[in-house]
Amino acid sequence: MIEVQDLTKSYGPRLAVDGISFSVPRGEILGFLGPNGAGKSTTMRILTGYLSATSGSASIAGFDVFSNPIEVRRRIGYLPENNPLYNEMRVRDYLRLCCRLRGVAPARRSARVDYALEACGLQERRRDIIGRLSKGLRQRVGLAQAVVHDPDLLILDEPTSGLDPAQTRETRDLIVALGRDHTVILSSHILPEVSATCERVVIINRGTLVADDRPENLARRMSEGHGIDVEMAVRGDVDAIRKKLKSVRGLDAVDVQELAGGECMVRVHSSGDDPREELAKAIVKGGFGLRELHSRTLSLEDVFISLTTEEPQV
Ligand SMILES: Nc1ncnc2c1ncn2[C@@H]1O[C@H](COP(=O)(O)OP(=O)(O)OP(=O)(O)O)[C@@H](O)[C@H]1O
Ligand SMILES: [Mg+2]
Repeated sequence: MIEVQDLTKSYGPRLAVDGISFSVPRGEILGFLGPNGAGKSTTMRILTGYLSATSGSASIAGFDVFSNPIEVRRRIGYLPENNPLYNEMRVRDYLRLCCRLRGVAPARRSARVDYALEACGLQERRRDIIGRLSKGLRQRVGLAQAVVHDPDLLILDEPTSGLDPAQTRETRDLIVALGRDHTVILSSHILPEVSATCERVVIINRGTLVADDRPENLARRMSEGHGIDVEMAVRGDVDAIRKKLKSVRGLDAVDVQELAGGECMVRVHSSGDDPREELAKAIVKGGFGLRELHSRTLSLEDVFISLTTEEPQV
């Protein structure tokens, strides 16, 4: 659905996108991640045909975005970062206009507008003037205009920015539902949300691609060879717990912190075998109360921080 090859964009002397390549198959939801200024919005603007590239190629559904921008725009729904809207128009009239401009057949327009209003929770606000809506509601109008013409591909630049928690969750569900028969590429800084929504993530840093994989694969590959971290909540005296843990073999690092209510938080690291069963035995044998024990797996946030603040490891 999307093919990007060696895409480069300079704004004068500043290199914003530096030779990135990736492809997105039909029906996939791709998360596009990177720190501020990494080049996400620039790449999205190029894909939608709103910005030219300095070099490289990009195509959508087989159409080159530079030589065939009209065909490309017909197939995409785009929510830009700054979400430009006609502020003096009413919500429903604006969505009708979008249908007309994007060539939706007259007989389908009213059903499409109703669908977009419903999907984005805007039915009650359909007669409101856009400029008088709150930021989050305007964001919903931005999403509604992106889906109203039933495009094959959705390009959403921070779709949940400014939304309240309930609407963020609804929008996430909407994106997952849309992802069943659309291809979606979305940027976001809310990483747990990306883990929950996206089948694959591309991470860019300073204009270059540093990772392209499923979120769980990234975490697994990064934690390979790094041993295992275990966290426990244990009820008992802090010094007695420390002493007891000294008897467990194979632990490289042990950290015991006293919490309120006579409970301690224990963090241990082992670079060898999985120590979980030995730890549980030692705590129970020592007469302490074992309230919780789990191995800590890397989150997408750990992967993101590691790839964008240190030398790339994946
Ligand atoms: N119109 C422009 N003229 C000059 N430089 C620009 C322009 N647009 C973006 N840039 C620069 O290009 C780089 C990438 O910007 P871009 O907006 O693509 O980042 P981003 O990954 O979307 O960041 P954010 O997470 O903050 O939205 C930045 O250094 C930015 O200052
Ligand atoms: Mg951006």
